[in-house]
Amino acid sequence: MEKFIVMGRTRLEGTVRIGGSKNAVLPIMAASLLTSKNSTIFDVPHLTDVLTMKKVLEHLGARVNFTSEVLEVDTSGVNRHEVAESLTRQMRASNLVMGPLLGRFHRVRVSHPGGCDIGSRPMDLHLKGFQSMGAAIHERYGFIEVEANDLHGAEIHLDFPSVGATENLMMAAVLAKGQTVIRNAAKEPEIVDLQNFLNGLGAKVKGAGLDVIRVEGVTSLNSVEYTIIPDRIEAGTYMTAGAITGGDILITNVIPEHLEPISAKLRETGVTVTEYPDSVRVQCAGRARAVDFKTMPYPGFPTDMQPQVMALMATADGTTVIAETIFDNRFKHVDELRRMGANIKVEGRAAIIKGVPRLSGAFVEATDLRAGAALVLAGLAAEDATIIENIYHIDRGYAQLDGKLNGLGARIMRVNNHR
Ligand code: UD1
Repeated sequence: MEKFIVMGRTRLEGTVRIGGSKNAVLPIMAASLLTSKNSTIFDVPHLTDVLTMKKVLEHLGARVNFTSEVLEVDTSGVNRHEVAESLTRQMRASNLVMGPLLGRFHRVRVSHPGGCDIGSRPMDLHLKGFQSMGAAIHERYGFIEVEANDLHGAEIHLDFPSVGATENLMMAAVLAKGQTVIRNAAKEPEIVDLQNFLNGLGAKVKGAGLDVIRVEGVTSLNSVEYTIIPDRIEAGTYMTAGAITGGDILITNVIPEHLEPISAKLRETGVTVTEYPDSVRVQCAGRARAVDFKTMPYPGFPTDMQPQVMALMATADGTTVIAETIFDNRFKHVDELRRMGANIKVEGRAAIIKGVPRLSGAFVEATDLRAGAALVLAGLAAEDATIIENIYHIDRGYAQLDGKLNGLGARIMRVNNHR
């Protein structure tokens, strides 16, 4: 297994280009199952999660070609409706094929996703929505089976604006009879990207980005060519890397409006964030100021940036309180940051961080994707070297994090376990 050795006390400087969004491309790849025609998707990042979704599509009978950030999917041969347990276990987002398979074949079977590293992640909102569209649900032998003889439009009110449930229900509704209305829908930019892709296929979806999404069912779909939006969490991670190292970096290929919740918080800490039409510059001189924050659905502060900004607050001037309201167990990075000298106390869903002037390198473990990114950032700012194990978590969602950071002046080595 590979690990990172991150040399500390580096100042980042230069330009880094952001790739396509992981959380946009995964549902869009799933949505390609709705049509029997070809989908060509541009700006697809080289991530393990993308390769896992590719395997899921291939397992279902699709032919997928992925070279130089272009992914071509031919779904004319799709003939299975079941996702193998091994794939669902590798990546929870495999369950995003449920909506499209239900829409196209009126049946789907996936293994129950169970919990994960950041907390229990039920599927009740997805399933209740499918039920109101006329589907029957059977949960047996560790699998969820969904079947509908007559899939029809419905009025759905989500108890919580779940990203995955909104996406699955939008996709199921595309080929359903009549109109589906999803209220209290998630408003993340990735939902808008999915709507644009679906409409490119010939679907009739409107309202994404707002509370209410309306889908008018259609009977057939076309082929499509589509470019994925830039990854706002990858961009936010580099912004925070600039801040924690007292650096000056230009982050290109971004949509600055999508970064607003992150930019606003970084500005409160004293970091200078300058927006250009499709790039942002982050400059930080001296120590960041401590600021409280709470994770919220978009346009609130994203839970996927909580660990990275916690790393920044670990060395900030003052005391920070972070409330994690989206996931019930997303503080696993706290123990690892403590090993590096951070002063953090967890009380339920809140973390209290007393900033220290400097962290020190240590042996730590990436417990999930964003926790791993947080440790890399902490390592860049710490004294001496930090050794991060289990970096396969990081490769799930960052293309070349080490290579891109090294391009900005970092010194990160990727090594195999036998050091
Ligand atoms: C997506 C993102 C993930 C991000 C999260 C929140 C992808 C591939 N992943 O995950 O990176 O952290 O949004 O922004 O896009 N919930 C229920 N019942 C359900 C569904 C969700 O209770 O049926 C709860 C979850 O347990 C969690 C909260 O809702 O506590 C948010 O989950 P959700 O928005 O669904 O996140 P994902 O779509 O899984």
